[in-house]
Amino acid sequence: MTQHAKSDTPIIEAKGLVKRFAAGESTLTVLRDVDFVVAAGARIGIRGESGCGKSTLLNVLSRLEEHDEGQLFWQGEAIDKIPRGRLARQRGRLIGFVFQAYYLVPELDALENVLLPTRILGTYNRHARDRGRDLLERVGLSERIHHAVTKLSGGERQRVAVARALIHRPQVVFADEPTGNLDERSGSAVMDLIERLSSEEGTALVLVTHNADFAARMDCTLTLTMGQFD
Ligand SMILES: Nc1ncnc2c1ncn2[C@@H]1O[C@H](COP(=O)(O)OP(=O)(O)OP(=O)(O)O)[C@@H](O)[C@H]1O
Ligand SMILES: [Mg+2]
Repeated sequence: MTQHAKSDTPIIEAKGLVKRFAAGESTLTVLRDVDFVVAAGARIGIRGESGCGKSTLLNVLSRLEEHDEGQLFWQGEAIDKIPRGRLARQRGRLIGFVFQAYYLVPELDALENVLLPTRILGTYNRHARDRGRDLLERVGLSERIHHAVTKLSGGERQRVAVARALIHRPQVVFADEPTGNLDERSGSAVMDLIERLSSEEGTALVLVTHNADFAARMDCTLTLTMGQFD
């Protein structure tokens, strides 16, 4: 079931991205002239050695970090033209995040964690709650909806994070080593879920992974070396 109309305009397009960090007296160039396109429904794997800039790239593409040079477009709109007040809302609708370290709020139960983005963006209502429950059922946690997340296993926590990433029906899911903290079996189960749910929802997927088998399941895999795609 594809819920997003396919369009020729990429969800995200980056041209010649450069990102530097200050490192004491000198500067560290982490991204060097990176071009990157996420088309509707695309499944892109990103690999590369630790420190090559994978997370930085996702942070820049989602405007959690500002780049130093180059151009970035969200659905064809130049990022610099998007007013600050609209940025967070637009990011929330465009991109769902799954991180290696889950980043769940320990004081909240599973459902409230899934609904957290709707609280932040002011879209929390009965429909959102129904969707949150539905997503938790689809990730196999129907018996854990009101569990404290601190009482869930690592694999279960990551499944909550997958549900949370999708609550706003984003155009693309950014998954940054989503199985990095999990044993082989739970990692594999989480990977299956990310693939299945993003496909059911018609959401594109950008997967950063060190796992060659998971990367091979994407439509294409790019390798980042010292801040540049090979
Ligand atoms: N805020 C920051 N300030 C200074 N340097 C940073 C900052 N964030 C990242 N870096 C540096 O940028 C480089 C790339 O970091 P990044 O986290 O993007 O790597 P990565 O490819 O995601 O690595 P890993 O596979 O270990 O997660 C690293 O050398 C890191 O030390
Ligand atoms: Mg990283």
